[in-house]
Amino acid sequence: MLLEGKKGLVLSVTNKNSIGWAVADLAAQMGAEVGVGAQNDRILPRVEALIEGRDNMQPFICDFSSDEDLENLVKNVEKAYGKIDFLVHSAAFAQKSDLEGRFIDTSREGFSLALDISCYSLVKLCKTLEPLFNDNASVVCMSYLGSTRAVGNYNVMGVAKAALESSVRYLAQDLGKNGVRVNTVSPGPINTLAARGIRGLSEMIDVVGSKTPLNKPFGQVEVAKTTAYLLSDLSEGVSGQIVFVDSGYNIVGL
Ligand SMILES: NC(=O)c1ccc[n+]([C@@H]2O[C@H](COP(=O)([O-])OP(=O)(O)OC[C@H]3O[C@@H](n4cnc5c(N)ncnc54)[C@H](O)[C@@H]3O)[C@@H](O)[C@H]2O)c1
Repeated sequence: MLLEGKKGLVLSVTNKNSIGWAVADLAAQMGAEVGVGAQNDRILPRVEALIEGRDNMQPFICDFSSDEDLENLVKNVEKAYGKIDFLVHSAAFAQKSDLEGRFIDTSREGFSLALDISCYSLVKLCKTLEPLFNDNASVVCMSYLGSTRAVGNYNVMGVAKAALESSVRYLAQDLGKNGVRVNTVSPGPINTLAARGIRGLSEMIDVVGSKTPLNKPFGQVEVAKTTAYLLSDLSEGVSGQIVFVDSGYNIVGL
């Protein structure tokens, strides 16, 4: 199996529609031991229900805004797994009011919050987990086309994704010295809890779906498959990249 013998983390999962859940589920099916992140005590029971009966999955609580949670995460992961082979960062947050209307209206507080949770958290997680990374470990995070295009209502999250993609390149430089790879998957719009926070999501999904070169839809499962490839040794020569999983939408001009 593609991920046999590998151990790693997928942070975070909220429900069965989370992209992180599709990734964790597929990685476990492919032979990995998977630590599944719950942001807090409130979400933990939902994650526990999802992983019930799955011997190769266990939950870890971590709120990215809490340094204490991050320190506890490292301790708990080391205790459970020793070293790890992968980290999947599948989390983002912005105030709902910053995901509609004009980007220019973003507050200083809203800007900082979105960048902290959606981008800096990847840097901080890599730094705190670095001692646990095996030499050929793979880090993957989730971005979106709004990083390079002005997508209506995506606003400050587009800026956060631009910073995330740039961070991936710098992290790939830093961690590559130990053979650790860092890449981004960029899914098209998918109906999840986080995405529903963006005004006009269903219209976005319809418009993108009507223009994709591939005449078939994409979703969590397609994202999980590409992520599994990036976590596996099949992608051992790939680092610092953005891989789109959007049925080809990002190449379309008119
Ligand atoms: N759904 C889409 O259309 C789409 C498209 C491209 C990229 N993405 C990205 O995919 C990733 C996963 O989102 P999703 O669509 O599966 O939605 P989701 O709501 O299922 O997942 C988002 C996760 O972020 C977590 N999170 C938020 N604040 C956090 C914090 N402070 N600490 C720890 N975790 C926190 C939530 O608990 C949740 O599990 C995000 O980075 C998102 O931007 C989603």
